[in-house]
Amino acid sequence: MRGGTRTKLRWLGLASGGTTLFGGLALAYAHYLEPYWLQENHYRVSLSGKAGAKSAWQGYRVAFLSDLHIAPQEEPLNTLTRAFERTLALRPDLVVLGGDYFSRGQWNPALSRLISPLTHSGLLVVAIMGNHDYFGRRCDPERIIDNLHQLGVKVLRNQALQVYSRGEYRWIVGLDDHHRGEPNLTEATEKLAPGERPLLVVSHNPDYVSELPPNYTELVLSGHTHGGQVNPMLPPFHKRFNWIRYTYSSHRTRYPVGWYTIKGNRLYVSRGLGLSGLRLRFNSRPELTIFEFI
Ligand SMILES: [Fe+2]
Repeated sequence: MRGGTRTKLRWLGLASGGTTLFGGLALAYAHYLEPYWLQENHYRVSLSGKAGAKSAWQGYRVAFLSDLHIAPQEEPLNTLTRAFERTLALRPDLVVLGGDYFSRGQWNPALSRLISPLTHSGLLVVAIMGNHDYFGRRCDPERIIDNLHQLGVKVLRNQALQVYSRGEYRWIVGLDDHHRGEPNLTEATEKLAPGERPLLVVSHNPDYVSELPPNYTELVLSGHTHGGQVNPMLPPFHKRFNWIRYTYSSHRTRYPVGWYTIKGNRLYVSRGLGLSGLRLRFNSRPELTIFEFI
């Protein structure tokens, strides 16, 4: 074998060895580290309207926890435990649970152990349904809702709830899941006076945002995408070239992660907390999100 050919083969061997090592390390990181590396995101959301109307809600804080994905008969990831403990410590005015509590739609009592400390301490907790919460048998979604109610959680399935701050009230609107349920904004808002703008609209799937009237609410909260869960694209390309924009599955959406403004409605899409499908997270850390209205 000639010297030049031998050198080329050596370089090829080194390159393939390096790629294998890098791939192995990335896989180990995505499996063993990132799913447990909770990120706490704090955002300030400026209220619209006149100063007088805004003043009661300035400083109102909302914690958003989504996509828990607890497997049947398994303990939840300790990421979830830390996120709920941290929520309890922060004592927000409102806790919003964004759906997909159970990967296969079957109740796991581990969820009671996560939620009970919040409701027992007097925190207001509301919840909506995600697509995975419909994956069980026919009666399982009702069981999930009943159990959440018994824990003291207000489940909003095309319903609205009045929340109060300094003697003023506003509405939290919760919609049923976009794919597996039957979201109905008219039904959800039947208690609202004409022209009343809710403080929050919560929809598991972010796609519903395009069906809201223009300038309708202060904030829309969604999950569902897990930010792609495995997302090799770094910012600023992590949104535009996120695979979830191009998949042919029901997860396809134009709003894979983070902030968007659609027809004057601000939307935040959380990366969620749990894992779906692959037991991996890459460049899409689990998140607990806290919003403070200003
Ligand atoms: Fe999910």
